[in-house]
Amino acid sequence: KIYPVILSGGAGTRLWPLSRAALPKQLLPLVSERTMLQETALRLRDHAELMAPLIVCGNEHRFLVAEQLREIGLAPQGILLEPVARNTAPAVAAAALFLQALDPEALMLVLPADHVITDVPAFHAAIDAAARVAQTGRLATFGIVPTAAETGYGYIRAGAVVDAGDGQCFAVERFVEKPDLATAQGFLAAGNYYWNSGMFLFRAASYLSELQEFQPAMAKACAAAVEHSYRDLDFCRLDEAAFAACPADSIDYAVMERTRHAVVVPAAMGWSDVGSWSALWEVQPADAQGNVTRGDVYLDQVSGSLVRAEGRIVAVVGVQDLVVVETADAVLVAHKSQVQRVKQIVDHLKQQD
Ligand code: GDD
Ligand code: MG
Repeated sequence: KIYPVILSGGAGTRLWPLSRAALPKQLLPLVSERTMLQETALRLRDHAELMAPLIVCGNEHRFLVAEQLREIGLAPQGILLEPVARNTAPAVAAAALFLQALDPEALMLVLPADHVITDVPAFHAAIDAAARVAQTGRLATFGIVPTAAETGYGYIRAGAVVDAGDGQCFAVERFVEKPDLATAQGFLAAGNYYWNSGMFLFRAASYLSELQEFQPAMAKACAAAVEHSYRDLDFCRLDEAAFAACPADSIDYAVMERTRHAVVVPAAMGWSDVGSWSALWEVQPADAQGNVTRGDVYLDQVSGSLVRAEGRIVAVVGVQDLVVVETADAVLVAHKSQVQRVKQIVDHLKQQD
């Protein structure tokens, strides 16, 4: 049995001003009428081996998450609540411990709540291939063929074929999380590198034993946080003192870069992590002028732009390649090629608080 674990804890700062701490990216309807979390959960239906998902999120988002699942008629395996954010390695560890108590053989499919995948059958086929290698104790990641020297992704160098029945998986020869630009360009030129999609499939027990080896303090803190957790209906609140004492790190740095048992499953599934406004423009259907709009928008002689109005009328005239996002209390106007700098706006605003 495969238990999906949906990580719904990020802040999504590069999608300011729409994405906010109280209502981050994954809880917003960004690419469809449904929220990213809802889309992620719905993508798991119609796969025979997938159980109901376990959601891991911040305590402050519990009612929103529960309500969004109810809206799509989904009864989760549970909603695991983090009293404080400790990044993805502890979140996945807590989920592994929770699932292992239910099913000692549990396979877990770790999924960020905020990705777009357009080819669901290809996604399901990749899950099947990854599940076969995960049965043998390996830790599978889903690899994406890189199209640019992105520095915001992890890179995987594929090695020998790992026999999983159909030769679709490769041993991970190297895993490099977020390289600098020159390194990323080298990887792209070399050709045998994939982007780490941030989705993983492994036995709960495999992950926990690697964590025990590489991050014993984290393993210990998470075990205490789950042992002393408080359960109420679907919610399982991790013990605050124990979880707060846990070192913070991502699954990529803490485990995937170090383990000797990683495999990569290459998959072409129309994947995007929708990490920025330009990425959001790319994944959505545009009109004849290449514009993507939402809400009450008036355009004249505009091309290649993303214009989004949440409440007021937004009129844009005679410009190209802009991002314009209007919300109740903030407006963003940026060139589409500069949207990575939105993160700095949020840093600046935080300093002023
Ligand atoms: N529950 C929970 N708690 N979720 C979290 C936390 C946390 O403390 N921190 C992050 N997440 C969630 C985010 O919401 C996101 O869905 C996912 O975990 C990954 O975290 P990011 O912060 O978005 O990671 P990243 O984008 O820097 O890098 C990862 O994803 C890339 C692909 O999008 C890495 O896995 C890279 O190697 C990968 O290329
Ligand atoms: Mg991300």
